Amino acid sequence: MSGPRNGPNRLQPYLRNRLCDRVRTGTRHAVDGFHIVGGETLRGTVRISGAKNAALPILCASLLADGEHVFRNVPQLRDVDTTIALLRHLGQQVAREGSVVRVRGQPARSVEAPYELVKQMRASVLVLGPLVGRYGEARVSLPGGCAIGARPIDQHLAGLQAMGAEVRLEHGYVHVRVPGGRLRGADFRCQIPTVTGTENLMCAAALAAGRSTIANAAREPEVEELARVLNKMGARIEGAGTDTITVHGVEALHPVDHAIIADRIEAGTFMVAAAVTGGDVLLEGVTFDHLEAVAERMRAAGVAIEREGSGVRVVGRPPYRPTDVVTEPYPGFPTDMQAQFMVLMCRARGRSAITETIFENRFMHVPELCRMGACIEIRGKTAWVSGESRLQGAEVMATDLRASASLVLAGLFAEGETVIRRVYHIDRGYERIEHKLAALGARIARVEGRA
Ligand code: EPU
Repeated sequence: MSGPRNGPNRLQPYLRNRLCDRVRTGTRHAVDGFHIVGGETLRGTVRISGAKNAALPILCASLLADGEHVFRNVPQLRDVDTTIALLRHLGQQVAREGSVVRVRGQPARSVEAPYELVKQMRASVLVLGPLVGRYGEARVSLPGGCAIGARPIDQHLAGLQAMGAEVRLEHGYVHVRVPGGRLRGADFRCQIPTVTGTENLMCAAALAAGRSTIANAAREPEVEELARVLNKMGARIEGAGTDTITVHGVEALHPVDHAIIADRIEAGTFMVAAAVTGGDVLLEGVTFDHLEAVAERMRAAGVAIEREGSGVRVVGRPPYRPTDVVTEPYPGFPTDMQAQFMVLMCRARGRSAITETIFENRFMHVPELCRMGACIEIRGKTAWVSGESRLQGAEVMATDLRASASLVLAGLFAEGETVIRRVYHIDRGYERIEHKLAALGARIARVEGRA
């Protein structure tokens, strides 16, 4: 969709109101929205970008070694921008050209991740492990809760304490110090297989004295990818991708040149986009093995999914069969695909149970989907979806990254126009989603407020 539809004159009344808000508040985000006209069938090829949740810990891990790092296939996202801002704050020189990020690592001029950056992105906590591992000290603003739940970091801290660090909480910051300056290898068992916690502990242990083991470790592909990068930097890490990781500490690491794996959640989101629109889409550059759980549930629902060369072809023929999912740590069904799968189940005939076990508050898309005509009832940790629903376009509000993605998916097959507000959530984790969808035939445009 282009041309006059995008023009300020065609803005819906609410957007005009938001424009006034913008004038009052001076913020750009207040007025950005996606405008979608549903009902188009998606067809064609889409290239999947690098994985956000691999890029963030890998960029932070560059703090472990001085010299010229080159990271390729880095997605252009707001969370990556925040991470780059954080690295610069810590004294690193960072240059970005398209999907290539060059970090000239040098001794940090600060070991503090300030509230200003952590509040924008809780993954800022990923500098904790590298800073403590390298400098024996870090001060990181506590992230606090977020839209999807409380999300404490107690396991990150307990693991560092097991390696000899002292932890103090002061003025909203966690201050971690290692008497003597160098962590000692230790055996630590995570109470929960935390993804960023495992990543922080691997980075910290990489430069510790002696051997560490992390039991009940997260097995996500992004953890394995970080271990791959650390090993290229000279670390000695074994077992990443299993639930027990062994790290033999080394004296020093060196810079690395690395291309980041594809984003399995972006891929899963486009798979659902193809399915809900009854489309035929080839996803390029994906690692199919990372998508097994999602593909298995989508196939159970009746979506045709085939590997094709280094890609995956998804052919949708709604209506689908009702299909239950339970979110679990990898290799189970990812919590980051729960909201999107729920939209797929709106196109299934019958009742599906979608159970969220990772985060306590991750059904915020449900009231918005119901406003579009979905029939979803939440009971405890389970959302019961009764379909098939004919969704209708509506003005809806994005609340967090994946919830926002689900609203975009709903808008693609809803009758009429959907306007999604607060799309800055989507920009945190999806690279140019509106361009990629439009190239497949969707009628979607970003409506930016102009004063
Ligand atoms: N938890 C604790 N204590 C801890 C750490 C975690 O109780 O010390 C709990 C959390 O509250 C949550 C569960 O353990 O209930 C799992 O949280 P985890 O630590 O694994 O999540 P995370 O590392 O903060 C990463 C991703 C999330 C993704 C989750 C689960 C990154 C930067 N973020 O978060 O991604 O949902 O793992 O797979 O890797 C997203 O991309 O939209 C996103 C939220």
